[in-house]
Amino acid sequence: MNIRFLLNGESVELRDVDPTVTLLDWLREERGLTGTKEGCNEGDCGACTVMVTDDRSGARALNACILFLPQLNGRAVRTVEGISGPDGALHPVQQAMIDHHGSQCGFCTPGFVVSMAVAHAKGASDYDDALAGNLCRCTGYAPIVRAAEAAASAPVPDWMTEALPAPGGAGVEPGAESGRVFAPETADELAATYARHPEATLIAGATDVGLWVTKDLRELEEVIFLNRCADLAEIEESDSHFRIGAGVSMDRVMQAVAPSLPSYAEMIRRYGSAQVRAAATIGGNIANGSPIGDNPPALIALGATLHLRAGDNRREMPLEEFFLDYGKQDRARGEFVEAVSFPKTAPDFRVYKLSKRFDQDISAVCGAFDVTVSEGSVSAARVAFGGMAGVPKRAAAVEEALIGAEWSEAGIAPALEAFETDFTPMSDMRASADYRLEAARNMLRRYLAETKGQPVSVLEVTA
Ligand SMILES: Cc1cc2nc3c(=O)[nH]c(=O)nc-3n(C[C@H](O)[C@H](O)[C@H](O)COP(=O)(O)OP(=O)(O)OC[C@H]3O[C@@H](n4cnc5c(N)ncnc54)[C@H](O)[C@@H]3O)c2cc1C
Ligand code: FES
Ligand code: FES
Repeated sequence: MNIRFLLNGESVELRDVDPTVTLLDWLREERGLTGTKEGCNEGDCGACTVMVTDDRSGARALNACILFLPQLNGRAVRTVEGISGPDGALHPVQQAMIDHHGSQCGFCTPGFVVSMAVAHAKGASDYDDALAGNLCRCTGYAPIVRAAEAAASAPVPDWMTEALPAPGGAGVEPGAESGRVFAPETADELAATYARHPEATLIAGATDVGLWVTKDLRELEEVIFLNRCADLAEIEESDSHFRIGAGVSMDRVMQAVAPSLPSYAEMIRRYGSAQVRAAATIGGNIANGSPIGDNPPALIALGATLHLRAGDNRREMPLEEFFLDYGKQDRARGEFVEAVSFPKTAPDFRVYKLSKRFDQDISAVCGAFDVTVSEGSVSAARVAFGGMAGVPKRAAAVEEALIGAEWSEAGIAPALEAFETDFTPMSDMRASADYRLEAARNMLRRYLAETKGQPVSVLEVTA
């Protein structure tokens, strides 16, 4: 595959790119741009943060360690070397880091500076959120956040604005098949390509697949990149429903649902980090079938419908029916997730994520509830959990025990008992089986308390 992108303002064309070379390795080994650091090589530390601009999402901070070169086609990349001006003038966030003593050993600093420059360009001011994906083990965050605040009012330097290049290398159609790498431009092209190459690995945001390469050292024979399929990245809104294309990134899902489903949006805010949310797609999070993926429990409780496509054949199913068993989904060869649709409003819907670390951590348990109460009794209930079984799962026995019950502590007692019928969770490094069961029951108690207007914030303690 041939690709073209801007690197620190200069056009780069690469021919016959190895599809699983990461941007981080290429920058450091081929370009000598060693400002971008390798810390964890799995998306967790932010030392490798680069700024990537495209016409769909604008400027974003991404982890170069789990970003494959073909994902850059037609985009603009800025590394820490390109954050300062061509004449060496410092970017306002760099000057502020000096002024506020924001660096000690300096290993994390390039990643921080790039994340800060992206937040600065977008006018984002919640620095706890913007910098949650950047880890510093010696300076401490206070001086770094002070530096970000100090730089906020400075204008964005003119060298940070650039026109995007046309994608594809000379003489090669951007979507054309080349060797073992495919980069379709539409869902129709994807359907046709995948039907011909059903053994190919689909790569959307690569926040899972990237780790197969960097950590499991897997060789991928044939790959199909989804990030250029414009129609897979669309969000459609009717009066009553969202239909979210499989290629929509989690940060765009968060923005779309925030006005009408604030609990879902707040859960997504704790999904990975800004860098992970900007890359990870909703389709990848569903298709990977992970029992601890955060979208499925929320979407199952919302009554979501999954839209699958193989060639010209489309089918749809309630999302919970997609997850058959651990590692097994109802997806045929050559079939892919095209979209997911769900109600736009659900006033009683809440989703709770429990993880060892509050930010940037995978759930131990994720519980979602949509319970309707009429005249003091439960008239309808949808309850779903992640982290409690080998698949994201609807809590059928809990729901059955709730229907008709009084909506009170005494009334939910049989439903609390029913958790053991629905779930036999496992013990692992995130939580023991007993802890998971008790935490899930407590989420129902918390949901009840929240609907009764009692304080339930886990971040504020009131006497
Ligand atoms: C640092 C870090 C933090 C994370 N934090 C969280 C978290 O808090 N919560 C959470 O749920 N997850 C988390 N994840 C996991 C990951 O981000 C998600 O599972 C992500 O949504 C996967 O989406 P992707 O687009 O990156 O998928 P990819 O890695 O591109 O693909 C994942 C799988 O889905 C397949 N696939 C992709 N798109 C489609 C499609 N349209 N149709 C069929 N198959 C497809 C791929 O072939 C692959 O098997 C984290 C990951 C990292 C690295
Ligand atoms: S090296 Fe840690 S996120 Fe990339
Ligand atoms: S300055 Fe040393 S890790 Fe941040």
